[in-house]
Amino acid sequence: MAKSYWVAILPGDGIGPEIVDATLDVLETVQELSGQFSLIYEFHQAGAGCYRETGKPITDEALEAFQRANATLKGPVGLPDVRKPDGTEAGLLGGVLRVDFDLYANVRPIRLFPNVLTPLAANDPDSIDYIILRESSEGLYLSRGVGLKTRDAATDSMMMTRRGCERISRYAFRLSMEKGRGAPEDGRRRVTLVDKSNVLRSFAFFRDIFLHTAADFPAVETECLYMDAAAAALVNRPGHFQIIVTENMFGDILSDLGGATIGGLGMCPAANIGDRLAYFEPIHGSAPDIAGQRLANPTSQILAAAMMLKHLGEAEAAEQLENAVWNLYAQKRIPLMPTGAVKGGASLVAKELKAVLKSTGAHA
Ligand code: IPM
Ligand code: MN
Repeated sequence: MAKSYWVAILPGDGIGPEIVDATLDVLETVQELSGQFSLIYEFHQAGAGCYRETGKPITDEALEAFQRANATLKGPVGLPDVRKPDGTEAGLLGGVLRVDFDLYANVRPIRLFPNVLTPLAANDPDSIDYIILRESSEGLYLSRGVGLKTRDAATDSMMMTRRGCERISRYAFRLSMEKGRGAPEDGRRRVTLVDKSNVLRSFAFFRDIFLHTAADFPAVETECLYMDAAAAALVNRPGHFQIIVTENMFGDILSDLGGATIGGLGMCPAANIGDRLAYFEPIHGSAPDIAGQRLANPTSQILAAAMMLKHLGEAEAAEQLENAVWNLYAQKRIPLMPTGAVKGGASLVAKELKAVLKSTGAHA
């Protein structure tokens, strides 16, 4: 008997619906080839469009489905002109879902696929292959919407808890052990903590806990790097890294930097994982300027779906999907523009990817 999984789908704003559609199209082929499982979808509204209509970034039904589903696949959200009275963007879900449901582990793989345009001199596929683990339940962003402001000053504060620092450190070491390979440079399993403990006590506190946790994982090399040096290192020697673990805002910034080195954010999926719930999404925004023009690249959304399959326990299907994306790029089957957009858009990518899956799927 095939297993079935309930998946809540939040298509989001801008290019969201078209890249999510393309992803579901591809997932259909993945399920056919596997024959071992089926995905049952429930579609719900969330994002800036939802905020405009309902005054809330996510509907009550969507929130309920999110808590009931085995996993949630979310498209990009946000529209530049949809704002809250305080001027911040409305319709963003990170603050709601990650914090309210304690999805503390934001897993962001940065991997260089073949034939994508990287601004770096070293451009061999897989010469960049690391994961940024962004702590996403505390840190500076816990101040989202609750910082203090007077007419002449404003403050946001950074929160680090012992529990938060410890569980994310442990998660990083477990990821390092589980990842298929070590750092591209030397094959070693290595967890790098990125902080600014030379300046702030909160980071020194995190570092102490990280180093203490490291003692339980003798098979993994441990190192610490300051955030400014880490930004340079991701450009100068990205092959050195296997797992990078860091605070919420630093992880937000570093993952965009990493994304820029592997062909842009269109290549970057993310998982948001807690002890009970999880959702999967691209790390980029909703690109409303190119929505509906057959230009959107759904790769990040499709890779997010592969992460979701792995999380659901369908590791083989997940690997098959990721390998197919790799082959799609290796075989130059999609016309990539220098901006990272695709001539032909998400549906073209889905069509080509399904052909690749079918050609390799038979003997997988
Ligand atoms: C991300 C996004 C969000 C975040 C924004 C849109 C609030 O940039 O997931 O990286 O900062 O978490
Ligand atoms: Mn971001």
